[in-house]
Amino acid sequence: MKISFSSASKTSSCLVAMISKKGVEKKKSSAFFRLSESAIQEKVFKGEKNETLFLPCTRAGSFKHLLLVGLGDSEKINHETVRQAAAAAYRQLEKYSLSDVAVDLSSCLSFFDNPAVLIRAVSEGFILAGYDFYELKKKPKGKKSVKNIFLSGVTPSKEMKTGLTEGQILADSTNFARWLADTPANLMTPSILAQEVQKRFTGIPNVKVSVWNKDRIKKERMGGVLGVSLGSNQEPRVIIIEYKGNPEDKGSRPLCFVGKGLTFDSGGISIKPARNMHEMKYDMCGSVAVIGALLAMSRLKLKVNVMGLVGSTENMPGAAATKPGDVLRARNGKTMEVLNTDAEGRLVLADILSYASEQKPAFIVDAATLTGAMAISLGDVYSGLFTRNEEMEKQLKKASVSSGEEIWSLPLNDFHVQDIKSTVADVANISSTGLAGSSTAAAFLEHFVDKKIPWAHFDIAETAHDVAKRLPYCRSKCASGVMVRTFVELARQYVR
Ligand code: BES
Ligand code: MG
Ligand code: ZN
Repeated sequence: MKISFSSASKTSSCLVAMISKKGVEKKKSSAFFRLSESAIQEKVFKGEKNETLFLPCTRAGSFKHLLLVGLGDSEKINHETVRQAAAAAYRQLEKYSLSDVAVDLSSCLSFFDNPAVLIRAVSEGFILAGYDFYELKKKPKGKKSVKNIFLSGVTPSKEMKTGLTEGQILADSTNFARWLADTPANLMTPSILAQEVQKRFTGIPNVKVSVWNKDRIKKERMGGVLGVSLGSNQEPRVIIIEYKGNPEDKGSRPLCFVGKGLTFDSGGISIKPARNMHEMKYDMCGSVAVIGALLAMSRLKLKVNVMGLVGSTENMPGAAATKPGDVLRARNGKTMEVLNTDAEGRLVLADILSYASEQKPAFIVDAATLTGAMAISLGDVYSGLFTRNEEMEKQLKKASVSSGEEIWSLPLNDFHVQDIKSTVADVANISSTGLAGSSTAAAFLEHFVDKKIPWAHFDIAETAHDVAKRLPYCRSKCASGVMVRTFVELARQYVR
């Protein structure tokens, strides 16, 4: 899909117009309003958020078709509104196999102090919505994908062009993250994941990717990663992505992002029920958020030094698998009693967070599909944020406002630490009470982070895939790529 600034009416068959509820009431007398007047008068189209009305063969000027998209209440319009509106429009364009379209943005400009924000969000909306995962099946017959999007009704400034480039990089990097996660577990093992990362980052300046194999992981005393991997034929991998966007600033502490990369989680010996187990190919979504975010940061050439750390393995119930009751030793020396082999993400993260702490970073933020309990606490709307550091919480909430990705703080305190005490080891991998599963998981992770380093944990178990019901720029059943954009915004806040 190509997005460019141009009215290009000659080549595009459809005009997309974004209209707020007020816009509908005022019935501004532009060409497309006259054409859609009866639809508006009959209240067939009200301008509600993400409402669409396709008016075929209306011959609006040189355009064959007209597509109206609602923006809802004018007072509430922000970048997320237009991101979603663009995606809602895309779904219609896709449905009618329209390949070249013009998008009139003149009605949106007044809602934005900074027009670059508008352009960025619109391009993100289109490119994110355009993602699909059809490579393993025949494409539905007669389906054409959207090829050219012409942004019209605005005079492109330097800022707007930058907005377009940024939107393209952010959405494209998110789509790469989605693709890694959507690829089935037999085709995306830890070693393949590492190879794909190496391949994707090749040629990007100031990036170094290192991959550790099983022997190296053993040498590095990563007993958690190793312990989880024992039941699988697939070797684990640790992937380290270093981006030095500010090489002069040698003294500065890197920003550190950590991701859980379970390419498949069967539960291990504490095996999961068969129903929906296939969804556990998505247990690598924390890692793809980190990978996608670093890809975007490096392509945007952000002037920051960043480290992305991924622990990747399968969790399988093979003959050599870790058994309930086994004790593993993490990199920082702490012992972990494995009371349930399905609580494996925290065992993997224990090592990676320990290693991250040794890098003396400015902060550590991790993302993980860690607990099913997120479905009950926050559902698929908010990713859960756990931190005791107020500054981190403030910075992350700010980043989430800029990205449009919803986050919500959940508690992590001494009660939760109390609940994961073990009789035989330093810490148990499940809570003795069985209550507050997401908070006790966060409390487990805290054991492996140096207390002096600001740290925040995201549980994205429910927001990482199949969220299309609430977000039109995500595809049904597919990975969302959540946290890629928020992590980039966070890094941006640390550009000096
Ligand atoms: N990967 C799962 C968490 C998960 C569940 C993510 C459902 C997405 C959807 C994690 O490894 C896990 O199995 N967690 C257990 C922990 C429990 C045994 C303490 C859970 O949440 O059931
Ligand atoms: Mg599990
Ligand atoms: Zn898991």
